[in-house]
Amino acid sequence: MPDTHAATKDPSATRSLLRLWPYVRPIRTRLFSAAFVAIVASCLGLVIPLVLKWIVDGPVADHDPGGVWLGALYLLLLGVAEAALFGFRRWLVARPLASVEADMRADLYRHVQRLPVSFHDRWASGQLLSRGTTDLMLLRMFLAFPLTFLVVNGVTILAGFAILLSQQWSLGLVLLVPVIPLVVLCSVFETRYSLVARQAQDQVGDLTTVVEESVLGIRIIKGFGQHRSQALAFRELSRRLRGTELAKARLLAGLWGLITTIPELAIGAALVLGTVQVADGELSAGTLVAFLSTALALRWPVESIGFLLAMSQESATATVRFFEAMDAEEEAEAPGASTTHPSGDLPPGAPQGAAPLEPARGSAPSPVLERPASSADRAPGAPLPDPCSSIAGGPAFALPGTERPAQDELTLSDTDGGPDHRTAQPPPAHLGIRFEEVMFRYLDAAPGTSPVLSRIDLHIRAGETMALVGGTGSGKTTLTALVPRLHEVSGGRITLDGEDIALMPRERLRGLVSVAFEEPTLFSASVGDNVLMGGGSPDDLERALDIAQAQFVRRLPQGVDTQVGEQGLSLSGGQRQRLALARAVVGRPRFLILDDPLSALDVHTEALVEAALRRVLQDTTALVVAHRPSTVMLADRVALLSGGRITAVGTHQELLRGNAEYAWLMSGAEERHDGKGEDGR
Ligand SMILES: Nc1ncnc2c1ncn2[C@@H]1O[C@H](COP(=O)(O)OP(=O)(O)OP(=O)(O)O)[C@@H](O)[C@H]1O
Ligand SMILES: [Mg+2]
Repeated sequence: MPDTHAATKDPSATRSLLRLWPYVRPIRTRLFSAAFVAIVASCLGLVIPLVLKWIVDGPVADHDPGGVWLGALYLLLLGVAEAALFGFRRWLVARPLASVEADMRADLYRHVQRLPVSFHDRWASGQLLSRGTTDLMLLRMFLAFPLTFLVVNGVTILAGFAILLSQQWSLGLVLLVPVIPLVVLCSVFETRYSLVARQAQDQVGDLTTVVEESVLGIRIIKGFGQHRSQALAFRELSRRLRGTELAKARLLAGLWGLITTIPELAIGAALVLGTVQVADGELSAGTLVAFLSTALALRWPVESIGFLLAMSQESATATVRFFEAMDAEEEAEAPGASTTHPSGDLPPGAPQGAAPLEPARGSAPSPVLERPASSADRAPGAPLPDPCSSIAGGPAFALPGTERPAQDELTLSDTDGGPDHRTAQPPPAHLGIRFEEVMFRYLDAAPGTSPVLSRIDLHIRAGETMALVGGTGSGKTTLTALVPRLHEVSGGRITLDGEDIALMPRERLRGLVSVAFEEPTLFSASVGDNVLMGGGSPDDLERALDIAQAQFVRRLPQGVDTQVGEQGLSLSGGQRQRLALARAVVGRPRFLILDDPLSALDVHTEALVEAALRRVLQDTTALVVAHRPSTVMLADRVALLSGGRITAVGTHQELLRGNAEYAWLMSGAEERHDGKGEDGR
């Protein structure tokens, strides 16, 4: 995580804070009005000493009780007006500022969703969390207080000094002398404080990461009796944070002490000098009272500058941290990426989802459809599909037995023959999924290491199911992640039905390709919502649950409406895997990628899922990562991934007979001497 700890590279506080302008712009009128109201309120406070002067030099000197009461009434009215105006200021800004915070948070969330997987590989989740919570809260507070009050207090101090100098310039100058050391002090403080503030905010992020990891990994921590070491790690981090916070407090205390003491000394000197002048008859008692009251009224605006600067500095750091995440580049679309398939859109009135599986048999190349359940179609509150865990397609074609005669006509009437019909009339070579000289290296891979995938050449024909077999760590998951562009290829290209995926808009690509990952992630939502993230309608939901043999759902307390995920019912690994599989097939994807989808199932359930899956695979072009012969049996052909390359392609039987590594992988032999896979590459 090197790039999130960039304390020394932070720009100046003002430059950083100016970046907030686009968010503040919509509420600028309210913010300026609130500042104006606060300035009026604050200056009203400065009128009070003038009324005091009038009372002392007038009614008090003349022994006029009526005048004193009148003066007291004026003071009361001024006090009430000041309080009311400050309250009004608060009312003006409270609501708009809450919406600024909400907007920034929404923007950050939206942006984080669009960042490439490689970004999430590099950034600790706690760093993102702390930016979306504590940092944004700091920014709201900055806009509410320091921003306004630095202006308000500045104007009040200027007005106050104007009054002081106009009353008795010599005394005024005595009070002005400390301004020079105070300005120097503040600038030294700002520089030092910005460094510790950044350090503290980064440490909050690190602490959040540890807490999050220990909550997510609580079973492992308990299972391995690691709670002590985890607690130690936590304590160490919080001790460091405490040290940084104390350093912040020390700096602030030092500044505060000097900011309070220096003006007090000046006021003391002015008091002595003023008293001498009153005694000499050069100054009226009322003027001295007014002078000292004004000086005392200015104490708060001056003293508050210390913590207002501290808060501004923290907010500048929070802004830098916020924009570090916001400036990370989103997944870019290739220039010229079109939203329509070269073959054109569906003709008007064509049934939704009617995409021909094999255009060679008399129909046009496949029109591509938008996924049916866009975020706009989804029920309010239902989570958005996570690009990292489920990418699923719209209804590209129908399955046998479904009540979609028009689709069946177009897509399935001639697919019942299984693999044989394919050999009888092979589809054009460009159809299906093609990997051409594909090379891939992770961005954070150590320099000098060989790429995970080098020169992958593979063609999965239209309608074919290809199993991908390889040793642990050979790059199978990496290869599957390239198809929906979770990672971008470092070299070569991948085509779907002849179209380069790098030139397709991601949304369309991910509407075509559906994936079930190794880790079946469920969200805090109902079973139905989790599965329907893959697209499709409630009817498709039942069908998908049947294919994935997820009948257990019907026995859950509220059936498909049962809440699962972190805030709901816990499901077993196999149950989660079946829901992830249902999610992958529910949208009837044109291209299906399954990363070892049956690994957590018992043999009986596996057999049932396989039987149902076989029907789905007949009608789609699929790449299935397989570790076990039973999963390989689902495929028409098998590709062996070894040493970052596809070293063999053929049927299961062919490879068993002719490829020693494949035979070894399938037989589960203990030792291997040809040194391929994780250790051998
Ligand atoms: N995000 C990442 N950043 C850097 N390297 C990675 C990343 N993910 C995986 N790798 C590395 O890439 C290699 C291939 O990993 P991959 O997950 O594709 O293997 P796999 O064939 O799916 O293994 P398995 O059978 O265990 O699932 C491994 O050496 C792994 O360490
Ligand atoms: Mg894997």
